[in-house]
Amino acid sequence: MSSFADSITIDQLNEDPYPIYARLRKEEPVAWLPAINQWLVTRWDDVLTVVSRPESFTTHFPQSLVTRVCGRDNMLGSEGDAHAELRACVDADYSTETVHRFFAADVRTLAEKYADALAEGDRADLKKQYLGPIAVLSEAKVLGLDQVDPEIFLRWSHGLNTGITNFEGDPGKQRLGEETAAEITATLTPTVERLTAQPNQSTLSNLIHAGRPPGRPRGVAEVLPTLRLVMSAIEEPSVAGSYTLWGLFKDPKQFDAVRSDPGLLPQAVHEGLRWHSPVGALMRSAPREVTLAGVTLPEGAQVAAIVASANRDETMFHDPDRFDLYRPLQPHVSLGYARHRCLAIDFVPEIVRISLEVLLERFPGLRPDEERPPRFRGWRYRGPDTLHVRW
Ligand code: HEM
Repeated sequence: MSSFADSITIDQLNEDPYPIYARLRKEEPVAWLPAINQWLVTRWDDVLTVVSRPESFTTHFPQSLVTRVCGRDNMLGSEGDAHAELRACVDADYSTETVHRFFAADVRTLAEKYADALAEGDRADLKKQYLGPIAVLSEAKVLGLDQVDPEIFLRWSHGLNTGITNFEGDPGKQRLGEETAAEITATLTPTVERLTAQPNQSTLSNLIHAGRPPGRPRGVAEVLPTLRLVMSAIEEPSVAGSYTLWGLFKDPKQFDAVRSDPGLLPQAVHEGLRWHSPVGALMRSAPREVTLAGVTLPEGAQVAAIVASANRDETMFHDPDRFDLYRPLQPHVSLGYARHRCLAIDFVPEIVRISLEVLLERFPGLRPDEERPPRFRGWRYRGPDTLHVRW
């Protein structure tokens, strides 16, 4: 007997996955989707189960597209002690304290510089001309790579993500992912070698040296997979910022409230993240047969834990499709959960908050450019192609 899930196509998911997720939550919360060869898990509780039980759902599996593109032993594709060791050497670089002590002022300086450039005109694509460069340069600063052209980082991020989302097995997409990975190796190997010989305070240096006995740093091949993983995420804060603004644009009352009280921005940013998850699906595999919500998944099953759906689960969130910065404080899972939660879980909301704070200060007449609305696409990663505004 065929089910609703059998009929779902990749195009439908990319176009607008939310109505599909709503129906799956109701009818088939653990569903096999032939179009992408994955089990989709869509309810809040089940998503949390999948991402918090490594013995039943692991990130360490050979078919992982993240691993195929970024390389073996990247942080996300590692489990157990190997994961804990890699994570421990850079975790502190992204803590709330580090962000406030070392990076918040730099992000503000960057935001002011890009706001100055915008102020010369009366319209812009905020994603390309403001949120994107701030996101990329903020992370580049943490990594210690702020001499590199942000356009190159953006191209790398797009190339890697094309490979990471290639569920259809398109050879052209696979090639682009692999060529980008190779270009990153060629470009950044000299920097890794220099930092191996001359450590500094940067995250990249910590990735090479932290937690290692003196004289035994991690080699280039151990460092580059995680560096590529970080590169793949580098533009994402600009997506989160676009969603928050889009939510505010759609509700003038909430927008006015934030304009007159920027203290509301942190909750607006988290609501933006909940409302539209930039990273919509977290990929796992079952090392052995496992039962989830009464459905038996075979050994080797590939499972997509749909955080974008969990964040709209009506049993958790009232009127979940609505952007509402006043909803009662409650966690979302857009930045992941448990051991693989986003490395930048504190850093991302701060980058977005500071970028938006400066923007609202400097452009009181900010409004969407009605003639050029954004187009949203994707399900594994989902975001707007542009964010055209006027002031
Ligand atoms: C809006 C921005 C971002 C979102 C929504 C996001 C979301 C996520 C999510 C959901 C995970 C969990 C993946 C999983 O469990 O399969 C994750 C992991 C990760 N993220 Fe982010 N991310 C963002 C930005 C960043 C940035 C800027 C960095 C740069 C450092 C970053 C680095 C990582 C790393 C290294 C991991 C793997 C952590 C681990 O395996 O322990 N992310 N991210």
